[in-house]
Amino acid sequence: MPVIVGRAPGKIILFGEHAVVYGQPAIAIPVKSVKASAHIAPIFDAEHAMVHISAPDINLNTALSNLTEDHPIAKAISLTLKQCQVKQPPSFSLQVTSTIPISGGMGSGAAISVAIIRAVSGFLGKPLPEKALADLAFEVEKIHHGTPSGIDNTVVAYQKPIFFVKEKPPEFLQISHPTHWIIADTGERTPTLATVAAVRNLHNEDPGFYGEIFEKIGKLSLNARNALEKGDIPVLGNLMIENQEFLSELNVSSPKLDLLINAARSAGAEGAKLSGGGRGGNIIALSKPDHMTRIEDALRKAGAIRVIRTLLSGHGEV
Ligand code: PMV
Repeated sequence: MPVIVGRAPGKIILFGEHAVVYGQPAIAIPVKSVKASAHIAPIFDAEHAMVHISAPDINLNTALSNLTEDHPIAKAISLTLKQCQVKQPPSFSLQVTSTIPISGGMGSGAAISVAIIRAVSGFLGKPLPEKALADLAFEVEKIHHGTPSGIDNTVVAYQKPIFFVKEKPPEFLQISHPTHWIIADTGERTPTLATVAAVRNLHNEDPGFYGEIFEKIGKLSLNARNALEKGDIPVLGNLMIENQEFLSELNVSSPKLDLLINAARSAGAEGAKLSGGGRGGNIIALSKPDHMTRIEDALRKAGAIRVIRTLLSGHGEV
């Protein structure tokens, strides 16, 4: 039996993070230059049925039976077995690797779950469609995020740019004009669970004020969808700047994020904002093609620990 490989890309949120948790629309795209992979090989000589897991990035090398039920890898496997109606799988070893920065707002947890679910269901001879991959990964996301909107697991399962509203099927963007994006990592990390909880506290204190901010962010996402589909770069840039102002009001920006955003804009970016949970993680900047190198250099000089280019082009391919 050959080795089975499941993969899933990273992702970046262009518009609408945090507001999406409160039912507002958001836009996310896959980032295929980073990915999670799950390799499965059968174990033929096991004395008892067993599943062996190794995940070198997190120093994990153990039998599945040693993991608690709510360990994200164990959860992804048990949900897949249940969905595929397999009680006792043949023995196998699973190796999980990822080039997606952990807790950086690039969907690493969701991509690892989708890669594992893809590999396990493939190994069982029952490969699951994208919707099932997204739904099962959503259950695992609850361990990472508490109350996730579902945007991360959806964009990495479908691997297409999406316009997303919580609890609704994703709408796929019809991109006819390419746009160039730069993702830069602050190196700071705050778990999304913590920033989502902080925003929830603010909303509980003043639901009227913060509810209005969420609605305004939702309107930006709607306008951004139009601008993205038309390739209207100046409008998109301004919408990013406005979105960042609202994210600052939600208190999820940080001095390092602000520094990188300002560096990108001073070097000629059309717009820039934090992406994902915030208080660290990544910024995303929109660039004209001939300004890319200048912006990347400025971001590195300002302290970015990693800079990634991504192109969003026709037919939604990134
Ligand atoms: O996983 P992250 O850090 O990209 O954040 C996801 C975006 C949030 O809106 C902050 C949370 C969510 O569940 O949508």
